[in-house]
Amino acid sequence: MSREHPHESIVIVDMGSQTAMLIARRVRELNVYCELAPPTATREQIARLGARGIILSGGPSSVHDADAPRAPDWALDGSLPTLGICYGMQELAHRLGGRVAPGGEREFGAASLIAQGSEQGGEQGGEQGAHSPLLRGLPQPLPVWMSHGDRVAALPDGFEALAATETIPIAAMADGQGRYGIQFHPEVAHTPDGKELLRNFVVDICGCSGDWTAEHFVSEAVAEIRAQVGDRRVICGLSGGVDSAVAATLAHRAVGDQLTCVFVDNGLLRRGEREQVEATFSRQLQIDLRTVAAGDRFLEELAGVTDPETKRKRVGETFISVFEEAARELGEVDFLVQGTTYPDVVESAGTGAGGATATIKSHHNVGGLPDDLRFELVEPLRYLFKDEVRAVGRELGLPEEIVERQPFPGPGLSIRIIGPVTHEKVTVLQAADAVVMEEVREAGLERELWQSFAILTDTRTVGVQGDARTYGWVVALRAVTADDAMTADWARLPAELLGRIANRIVNEVAQVNRVVYDITSKPPGTIEWE
Ligand code: XMP
Repeated sequence: MSREHPHESIVIVDMGSQTAMLIARRVRELNVYCELAPPTATREQIARLGARGIILSGGPSSVHDADAPRAPDWALDGSLPTLGICYGMQELAHRLGGRVAPGGEREFGAASLIAQGSEQGGEQGGEQGAHSPLLRGLPQPLPVWMSHGDRVAALPDGFEALAATETIPIAAMADGQGRYGIQFHPEVAHTPDGKELLRNFVVDICGCSGDWTAEHFVSEAVAEIRAQVGDRRVICGLSGGVDSAVAATLAHRAVGDQLTCVFVDNGLLRRGEREQVEATFSRQLQIDLRTVAAGDRFLEELAGVTDPETKRKRVGETFISVFEEAARELGEVDFLVQGTTYPDVVESAGTGAGGATATIKSHHNVGGLPDDLRFELVEPLRYLFKDEVRAVGRELGLPEEIVERQPFPGPGLSIRIIGPVTHEKVTVLQAADAVVMEEVREAGLERELWQSFAILTDTRTVGVQGDARTYGWVVALRAVTADDAMTADWARLPAELLGRIANRIVNEVAQVNRVVYDITSKPPGTIEWE
């Protein structure tokens, strides 16, 4: 999906909320396309997105602050259905002539919403309240999650209260013309029926059809890549990860042989990764794939390096040189396909209040190419979340091993070998790590875990095997659960599984005689050791 060929969408004006992204995810789960927009976006930009409705997100400010983000006029004038959430509601009330009272204290936590016109709320609400299109069909009372300081104390002209909680009389409001405000957060898990409320808004009130599916996305993305690229040539760097795999496959579907993929084997991959990439892209999808075997070159650059940041830098620079050489060999190529996803875009652009205009984070794969090797970017996944990328990958028929692949760091095993990286250590770690992958897969836990892998520490300890004393390396196991990589919990793997992994590693990998399990969460630990 892109800004150029909108179908129908919801625009979320990001007023600085932590949860604006979460609102976007919830709307997308309803198969309706949506994007975050800064409060500075213009009416024309919104029209180009095919907006059918607007959501004003929450935010940390008070409407009374001099520098508080201001909702744009097109979000206030009722030209499109509008839902203000928390700060968004307060801003709606404030700007339309109501009164927002400073909250003496922050209200934070669960509350019970009682609609006007429901049995609990009395009959005074008439056609609004429980019968309002926004609250229709929802349980009464409705468990909701609150997090606010200020609150709406007096309604603007033309609005009425839809619902109250024990602490605030105006917890939801509407003007009967498509403008709504709610003081609680429907996007968070603590509002269990929040998705239904959002469905009421997006589908019933805004009239979205909810046909934005992976299939729909693929046909639009393919058409757009064709339009962008024409009959010119395209290059794509495959990393082995799901994003570049899906982006490349979309490009291939769009322009076939005009696409060449380059896969740099840096010698720091997990066992079997190169074979998997070659099997899928070259043999199954018949994509023109050039694998560059550059393991020795990376090892040379890493020789004697212990500092993790230096490792990252050396791997990154070497990647760029190798990729550049491969690209030059192809001759005239105009386009570069990148697997940039929506979180990358939002993170770097800052759509929120006061956010900059879109400047896209340089992907670790290609940032820093020389000036004379400038490509026009093709970024078909720019507006997708990770789970949507996976759904598109499935729609394209990519194998589960690629679609469900766990994240893997760009610098590869170099940062999972503590201390200097040598060929021998890479081989030892690959062997130990392969045991982890096999056993976790066998136990059916691969999908449940965010990541699971082995680390080769730089510690050697004494052991005993057979009659002999050994002096071998300690391997650490890391397995975490997470929703995103910002926080993670160590996985409570079954003791039998841990035992089997340890046993196999010590028996099958000669240089290792001890295995430990990392039970640190993030924070304070990170996922990778480095
Ligand atoms: P940490 O160790 O900071 O890692 O908790 C968070 C997530 O990021 C992955 N990671 C990387 N991914 N390039 C990447 O593409 C990198 O340089 C890189 N370093 C860490 C890590 O595996 C985890 O999922």
